[in-house]
Amino acid sequence: MPAFGLGTWRMGESGRMRQAEVDALRLGLDLGVRLIDTAEMYGSGEAERIVADALEGRRDEVFLVSKVLPHNASRAGTLAAAERSLKRLRTDRLDLYLLHWEGSHPVQDTLDAFLRLREQGKIRHYGVSNYDTATLEEAWAVPGGEDIAADQVLYNLERRAAEWDLLPWCQERQVAIMAYSPLEQGRLRRRRALDDVARRHGVTPTQVALAWTLRLPGVVTIPKATRAEHVREDVAAQELVLGDEDLAALDDAFPPPAEAVPLETL
Ligand SMILES: NC(=O)c1ccc[n+]([C@@H]2O[C@H](COP(=O)([O-])OP(=O)(O)OC[C@H]3O[C@@H](n4cnc5c(N)ncnc54)[C@H](OP(=O)(O)O)[C@@H]3O)[C@@H](O)[C@H]2O)c1
Repeated sequence: MPAFGLGTWRMGESGRMRQAEVDALRLGLDLGVRLIDTAEMYGSGEAERIVADALEGRRDEVFLVSKVLPHNASRAGTLAAAERSLKRLRTDRLDLYLLHWEGSHPVQDTLDAFLRLREQGKIRHYGVSNYDTATLEEAWAVPGGEDIAADQVLYNLERRAAEWDLLPWCQERQVAIMAYSPLEQGRLRRRRALDDVARRHGVTPTQVALAWTLRLPGVVTIPKATRAEHVREDVAAQELVLGDEDLAALDDAFPPPAEAVPLETL
């Protein structure tokens, strides 16, 4: 899985922004982005249609991720939701299909459907989202659980709960952690502590926040950006490598968890 991708939450919610959203994703592809993260939930399906427009003639360039809503995640419901997503995305396969968060359907039913979809070639890999270590361990124990390829969780400088035990657990089992809202939805860049590090490298605070999520193996980051200058800035952040001095300063300002803390969600 590519370590850097573009998110699509909030896309498809306003017709006025639609073309800008398609253009942002296309610009990302032109700049070398190889992963797009979407979900049936975003814009009630419209985000997937926007992704389809951006991927017109370029489907093979990307690792495409979508998600099934928990209330659809029964066995039959997941199979049907996948078909709808494939149709909106105008593709015959997803590279990764995630359960958006834990719901009331037994995970075994969702995993059964994921296995069936994989057999049919409609998804290449599957995983979960917003799962903490205990929930992931439970899922791991049921048939198909050991093939969970990713857990997409809230992870950024201000939200480091995943570091306590989820991240090591996943790294040990080669389960990718996909860091969502890596910019804390745009709020992180205003935190003073990022300025010094940014200045040292001649980059922006946003780029420091993104490079920080990419400092660990097995972590994928998926910022969302609609403005072209944001897309360019975010993509360029992949080139920034933070040194020990930077990481120590960031740890001072945003301390890692000192004990188990519940995984937060947005
Ligand atoms: N699995 C889940 O439950 C879950 C939950 C939340 C998010 N996600 C995924 O993760 C993706 C990213 O998270 P997110 O959308 O919540 O938030 P985010 O990526 O942390 O932040 C997005 C916001 O930051 C702004 N931004 C982006 N680049 C910037 C830059 N260089 N300078 C200044 N501002 C910048 C964007 O503005 P513009 O758009 O105006 O450019 C947008 O307002 C989502 O789109 C979605 O795909 C998954």
